Amino acid sequence: MNEHTFIFLGTAFTSQSSEQIAILKDHLFCVNEHGLIEKIVAPDSAEYPTLLDSYEDTQNFHRLSEGQYILPGFVDLHVHAPQWAQSGTALDRPLHDWLHTYTFPLEAKFSNLDFATNVYEDLVQTLLNNGTTTALYFATVHKEASLLLAEICAKKGQRGLVGKVVMDDPEQNPDYYRDFDTKTALKDTEEFILAVKNLGETVKQGVYPVVTPRFIPSCTDEALKGLGELAEKYDTHIQSHCSESDWEHQYVHGRYGKNDAFALHQFGLLGDKSVMAHCNFLSDQDADLFAKTGTAIGHCPLSNAYFANSVIPIKRFKSLGIDIGLGTDISAGATPSLYDNAKQAVVSSRMLEDGVNGDLPATERGVPNSRLTINEAFYLATAVGGESLSLPIGRIEENYAWDVQIIDTKVPTARLPIFDPSEDLYDIFQKIIYNVRPENIREVWVQGERVHSR
Ligand code: GUN
Ligand code: FE
Repeated sequence: MNEHTFIFLGTAFTSQSSEQIAILKDHLFCVNEHGLIEKIVAPDSAEYPTLLDSYEDTQNFHRLSEGQYILPGFVDLHVHAPQWAQSGTALDRPLHDWLHTYTFPLEAKFSNLDFATNVYEDLVQTLLNNGTTTALYFATVHKEASLLLAEICAKKGQRGLVGKVVMDDPEQNPDYYRDFDTKTALKDTEEFILAVKNLGETVKQGVYPVVTPRFIPSCTDEALKGLGELAEKYDTHIQSHCSESDWEHQYVHGRYGKNDAFALHQFGLLGDKSVMAHCNFLSDQDADLFAKTGTAIGHCPLSNAYFANSVIPIKRFKSLGIDIGLGTDISAGATPSLYDNAKQAVVSSRMLEDGVNGDLPATERGVPNSRLTINEAFYLATAVGGESLSLPIGRIEENYAWDVQIIDTKVPTARLPIFDPSEDLYDIFQKIIYNVRPENIREVWVQGERVHSR
């Protein structure tokens, strides 16, 4: 503890396990100059009055007001930053059609850096304002605009993990939107990795380059192999889409005679720092491979409802030991909020468990043991997000980053329905997750820096 340490006094909610929420009532949270939680002190600890005495009247002391609570910042494991510009449109189209008719023409516009600046500045701030302190981004094929996104994260204080997207196969991608050729795709990726690593050296919260083959259908074997090698050479994170829709899953099977998981693995693209979006159609063997390699799933429940043709059996994959975090998949999921996706994860899992066809008897309608609780969905949005990225984030615990959202349940324009002054704190937690609006997210902190307040 020194003059740079600051202390928060308040009540925090954080995952203690997948099923259990820890409630830290009126604790002191001591944050050091590196933005890490150095110490958490409970009210019955001998140190508590001493610390309170020495900090209470200083500028380094933050006492939460009545009705305010601390939550960990959210970790969004799957965002297409350029697609923010089309969020909410064209969700009635199937995946292949949606990509070629809407998404690729939009992403092609990001060769224009003014356009990119406009969209990316707005998106990064919007995500922060919604409580997302870390985001794993797909940018576009353009090296410069992808670097720009990393710079905007750096400047706005968000922990951004950013990928220059690779789409090099001239057979599968339109001429107006793809890498010039395989060699250029790999060269641009390597230059991008080096530039973001260099940028990251001076960024307190960290920004990171991510090796990003869009999905197998957009890449040649040579590019996939080269990307696996680059990820290994520079020890980067890796992201892609995996077994997302019937069309995509079958395309990969037709090309290799195996599922996405084993195809990605043969190119060195699965590992501890890999996050694969969707993964709806993993076989048991695929799931074992994910668990063995430490590959995480970025579950995007809203996007899945539009494009994935199925509800992913999260509970089954979780029981096999796979890390599963949560993503918005902007714009296949049309919201910047992980609150919306946590709620949808619960709803989708309940529909999977109960089934959807009322013409069938109850015993044949659904998939037993599929439901997620709201505590589990919160765990995906926070703690597992951090574990998936191998970063000390997503929990309010010592040696974790001070990445938090301060929720005000008494904002006059968005009061939460809490009428009993002695309401049970766990009930308040549930009300927060189900009812919060951006107005309630009063402050957001990343690595000990305030990046949003209202
Ligand atoms: N598969 C390949 N590209 C995309 C994309 O942009 N969004 C989704 N949901 N799936 C994809
Ligand atoms: Fe996606």
